[in-house]
Amino acid sequence: MSKIHCLDLKQQHQKIKTEIFEAFEKVYENTAFSGGPFVEKFENEYAAFCGTKYAIGLNNGTTALHLAMLALGIGQGDEVIIPANTFIATAWGVSHAGATPVFVDCDPDTWEIDATQIEAKITKNTKAIIGVHLYGQPFDIDAVKAIADKHNLYMIEDAAQAQGATYKGVRIGGFGEMACFSFYPGKNLGACGEAGGVTTNYEKYATHLRSLRNHGSVVRYYHDEIGYNMRMGGLEGASLSVKLKYLQGWNERRQSIAALYKNNITNPKVKMQVQPEWAKGIYHLFVVTVADKDAFVKHLEQHDIVAAYHYPVPCHLQKAYAHLGHKEGDFPNAEYLASHCVSLPMYAELTDAEVTKVIESVNAY
Ligand SMILES: Cc1ncc(COP(=O)(O)O)c(C=O)c1O
Repeated sequence: MSKIHCLDLKQQHQKIKTEIFEAFEKVYENTAFSGGPFVEKFENEYAAFCGTKYAIGLNNGTTALHLAMLALGIGQGDEVIIPANTFIATAWGVSHAGATPVFVDCDPDTWEIDATQIEAKITKNTKAIIGVHLYGQPFDIDAVKAIADKHNLYMIEDAAQAQGATYKGVRIGGFGEMACFSFYPGKNLGACGEAGGVTTNYEKYATHLRSLRNHGSVVRYYHDEIGYNMRMGGLEGASLSVKLKYLQGWNERRQSIAALYKNNITNPKVKMQVQPEWAKGIYHLFVVTVADKDAFVKHLEQHDIVAAYHYPVPCHLQKAYAHLGHKEGDFPNAEYLASHCVSLPMYAELTDAEVTKVIESVNAY
């Protein structure tokens, strides 16, 4: 058996190569490289998949968060509450709009935003809360939404890692004003290239986002506001349409690998993300915590298993946010996770034999 990597994109892309290349050929023949019919097709399919009225294709997931902030009118002087335990791009979306990210610790068990700590962070400048469906597992949407409603705040889903996950039986993507997706190649649904998008049930946001991504223009060469060039590419859109057909099956395979990990990893040194009964995650990542993560990773390496860290530094301790004045100890759960997290191999093409090898190696630590 060769090395087992944390993620391997090659197998999936080999399997669907012919279909993807046929799709690329159509884009090429139509020279529909920027936006256009192949992006529109994917937008319609993805909105249907998420059960939302609209999907707007963009050039990446960071853009999705940034433009969502702009569409809500959020900018300089405003504050947006986000979890300290997330990939940094959640914070970029807020900062790029000129607003300030205000961090909240994560729950020690689910590792998702701790709703009970949000209210203490609300000030007169707070405009929105962004919950992150981290590692592909939905955060407690009802709890966060109740606080948002009580304080007249917007709620945005950062769904970059959670394409197809369900909360109380409903696919995520339509619970707040907008949901922001990344279709970065390594995501469960990843483009052949960079891509992202927003889903929403509100026509006003859909219309505004389409304008913002296209130089602030609805009618060509008439610019109603300062806009951006943040359209999704045609090749990316076409590749996403091909892959969307497989997403549910790929997610189900990840769920069964996760079940194997959960049922068979018995090493008491290894702790897993708790999944409440209302959350059905799609296991973008399978993260565990261990006391000495470097020793654990070295042990796995000796068994030809390549693990990774998601994420080794929480947002509030990143240099980029030093000006916010945070220090170690501010968000102990996020900090614990950062210094103890290890991602085990997780992708749909892992074989049962490989999964067994990971389990045995983890148990042998
Ligand atoms: C939680 C989260 N938010 C936002 C993003 C940003 O997406 P992208 O890399 O497509 O800009 C990512 C992806 O990396 C992410 O994991």
